[in-house]
Amino acid sequence: MATFSLPKNSTITGKARHHASATNGKIRKFKVYRYDPDSGENPRYDTFEIDLDQCGPMVLDALIKMKGEQDPTLTFRRSCREGICGSCAMNMNGRNGLACTTAIEDLSGEIRITPLPHMEVIKDLVPDFTHFYAQYASIRPWLQTVSPTPSGKERLQSPEQREKLDGLYECILCACCSTSCPSYWWNSDKFLGPAILLQAYRWLADSRDEMTGERLDELEDPFRLYRCHTIMNCANVCPKGLSPARAIAEIKKMQAERLV
Ligand code: SF4
Ligand code: SF4
Ligand code: FES
Repeated sequence: MATFSLPKNSTITGKARHHASATNGKIRKFKVYRYDPDSGENPRYDTFEIDLDQCGPMVLDALIKMKGEQDPTLTFRRSCREGICGSCAMNMNGRNGLACTTAIEDLSGEIRITPLPHMEVIKDLVPDFTHFYAQYASIRPWLQTVSPTPSGKERLQSPEQREKLDGLYECILCACCSTSCPSYWWNSDKFLGPAILLQAYRWLADSRDEMTGERLDELEDPFRLYRCHTIMNCANVCPKGLSPARAIAEIKKMQAERLV
């Protein structure tokens, strides 16, 4: 029988702290996961009260207010503030998404914020992407060619060839999809997961790339590709409206077509 053990420091038993709002407007409560490996303590949930009359509309606005006014040690990633960089990916009320494009008013009750699931946590809401990025590097995410570039020219595509990249190039590598995929939770050491497989298909679908056979050889493996069981969490959760499940199905189709 399979046995499972919880990763270290996954039990939330740390002593919760309450940060009350200094004003009396439209108060909303947020329960935020806190973990500081240097403290030697287990993780905890802190409660923050935020006056929505004094705050921007998005979850990221609330986090910035918590950090700026109530607890400067609160740690999270953010950069672009408009759904482009992917760095503010986290779990809000049980669903992965981008804090900067998730409206507070779309979340009900006390808002629970945790890091992306099933990743090691560096601190508070910051997960460790080292393995995810190593998996990304493993698919060689750049144009690979063997033929010389036509002298003095670019490698051109027809509008139809370029259109095949729509729904793929928009991926911001936020990992919302991979960390909502049960297959990735249990097999992330070997299964590439939806985000990286969508990226792999982005290069397979590129008419200019000349390494299609080699790329498919790399993916022909019981774990790397075939651990996807079409559960579709990835497509449901992608904040950019992409469908990694469809990209994975296309790779499986390309693999099958090689056999006939
Ligand atoms: S496919 Fe969507 S959810 Fe997955 S990494 Fe790309 S943008 Fe994020
Ligand atoms: S469709 Fe595949 S990759 Fe997407 S969530 Fe399901 S098992 Fe994971
Ligand atoms: S801050 Fe860049 S996607 Fe949210």
